[in-house]
Amino acid sequence: MRKRSKRPHVTLKLAVSADGMIGLHGIGQVRITGPEAREEVHRLRARTDAILVGIGTAIADDPELTCRLEDLENQSPIRIVLDRRLELPLNSKLVMTAREVPVIVIADLAATTEDGLDARGEALEAAGVEILTCDSTRLDDLLTALASRGISSLVVEGGAKTARSFLNAGLVDQILLFRGPGTLGEGGIASPFDPQSIPAGFRPVETHQFGADICENYERDI
Ligand SMILES: NC(=O)c1ccc[n+]([C@@H]2O[C@H](COP(=O)([O-])OP(=O)(O)OC[C@H]3O[C@@H](n4cnc5c(N)ncnc54)[C@H](OP(=O)(O)O)[C@@H]3O)[C@@H](O)[C@H]2O)c1
Repeated sequence: MRKRSKRPHVTLKLAVSADGMIGLHGIGQVRITGPEAREEVHRLRARTDAILVGIGTAIADDPELTCRLEDLENQSPIRIVLDRRLELPLNSKLVMTAREVPVIVIADLAATTEDGLDARGEALEAAGVEILTCDSTRLDDLLTALASRGISSLVVEGGAKTARSFLNAGLVDQILLFRGPGTLGEGGIASPFDPQSIPAGFRPVETHQFGADICENYERDI
């Protein structure tokens, strides 16, 4: 993919509840799947070059996005955050671990040169975060830039807006949909799609069971 299309292979991974939600408004990380599925996600991270989330997820969930399986800890992917205005908190797990596992923040050049934001950028860089300035609405350009750094595989781990942007830009090659048996109910953040509304152009290739959860794998028709 990197050589032919000059971009990494993109996997969109989402965990969705039985009522089609990926999280809860105003509440951080919500457990949708069980330990077996989460372990599989860590194996997926170990197999991929880079992992990407939007700033909404980085702030709401404070994820680390590393691989924390025994013997695979040194195979964590590069972590990338779409963060136009450099809002990633300095005390977030991503920033605090940036010296051990690289973190790249995708920022908007216009936004970062506004008053005060230069200082935030400097603080992030001092903490070991790399700031890559580019127009994050041009995801195709971003992927080309990542490919030119040798990144061949990218897992997009959400949230909803980021998933939609990648799908709308036609830049998703594979969807891994983890389905948990529980419901989230009121206050839920709707998944951009569910098993009944898989985006056009994707076909199911396999299904795996992880404990009480199901993972459906869809690939894009070439
Ligand atoms: N179940 C799951 O699999 C899963 C996975 C991850 C997250 N989540 C949940 O999802 C929620 C967060 O989702 P979210 O939709 O609010 O936020 P998000 O997708 O994580 O982040 C969206 C923000 O990223 C920035 N951004 C910059 N460039 C973008 C681009 N090209 N496309 C989209 N966004 C871009 C935008 O911020 P500005 O507009 O400020 O520039 C946008 O508001 C959390 O509650 C989290 O728990 C669930």
